[in-house]
Amino acid sequence: MVTIDSANNPASHQAQKMAPAIIEVRGLVNRFGKHTIHDQLDLSVGQGEILGVVGGSGTGKSVLLRSIVGLQAPTAGSVQVFGQDLSLLSASQRSRYERRFGVLFQRGALFSSLTVLENVALPLIEYGGMTRAEAQHLAAIKLALSGLPPEAGAKTPAQLSGGMVKRAALARALALDPDILFLDEPTAGLDPIGASAFDRLIMTLRDALGLTVFLVTHDLDTLYAICDRIAVLSAKRVLVVADIATVAATDDPWIQDYFQGPRGRAASKAALSLQKE
Ligand SMILES: Nc1ncnc2c1ncn2[C@@H]1O[C@H](COP(=O)(O)OP(=O)(O)OP(=O)(O)O)[C@@H](O)[C@H]1O
Ligand SMILES: [Mg+2]
Repeated sequence: MVTIDSANNPASHQAQKMAPAIIEVRGLVNRFGKHTIHDQLDLSVGQGEILGVVGGSGTGKSVLLRSIVGLQAPTAGSVQVFGQDLSLLSASQRSRYERRFGVLFQRGALFSSLTVLENVALPLIEYGGMTRAEAQHLAAIKLALSGLPPEAGAKTPAQLSGGMVKRAALARALALDPDILFLDEPTAGLDPIGASAFDRLIMTLRDALGLTVFLVTHDLDTLYAICDRIAVLSAKRVLVVADIATVAATDDPWIQDYFQGPRGRAASKAALSLQKE
């Protein structure tokens, strides 16, 4: 069992094994009124890795994601992405970097009145400077890349299944050819087969496009199947960040309940049997 030495921030152990950091969060504090969500949180994400971010509901996973992409101004601390603290840049400089993020939000956030194709084309028109025709042409390619059939483009989000909506949101996140993909609970609400297909898609995209993936998830199968490292949010900071075997063996009540409970053991067993195939 791995024990946590709180005097020695475990987040710092990651540096030796990791590719050069593309995201560096240092001393992050986020507070809403008197409610402190993050307190001196540190986290680095290596270029090209799939980092899984887990933690109990309300531990601040989505707030952390929003802080990194610049939608949530931190109370204190710094966030560097691509070696830059984006909050120090002018709006136009900042948007050049922000274009390199693709975000799939926890609540989907597709425009319900637009077709799927129009949803994906929108960022290409607004930020990519394309004409409508060019944007729709490229949007159709992104939909195919995300595993949607061509006819899905003409439908509105309400006409699609939950899994297809996730794929459409992924296509929109990929519209501007991002370097970093942020996914907030992408497989929530999908059946296990749909979820594992989505996992494979994320892995394929990372391998084919060299993306870095910041993946917030509760899905243990996803953690075992595709994540290079797992960061556990607890007690307002990153309690541990390491490979899954190290995390699962960490001496912490929440981690033990989560990874060694029936679902955690089943996911671990399934991952082991897949490796043997
Ligand atoms: N804009 C905001 N104003 C006030 N409180 C907020 C705001 N955004 C988030 N919070 C609070 O911050 C805490 C962390 O929220 P967050 O959405 O990051 O949790 P989470 O870890 O993503 O949870 P879940 O697993 O349920 O998605 C919650 O208590 C939430 O109510
Ligand atoms: Mg959340």
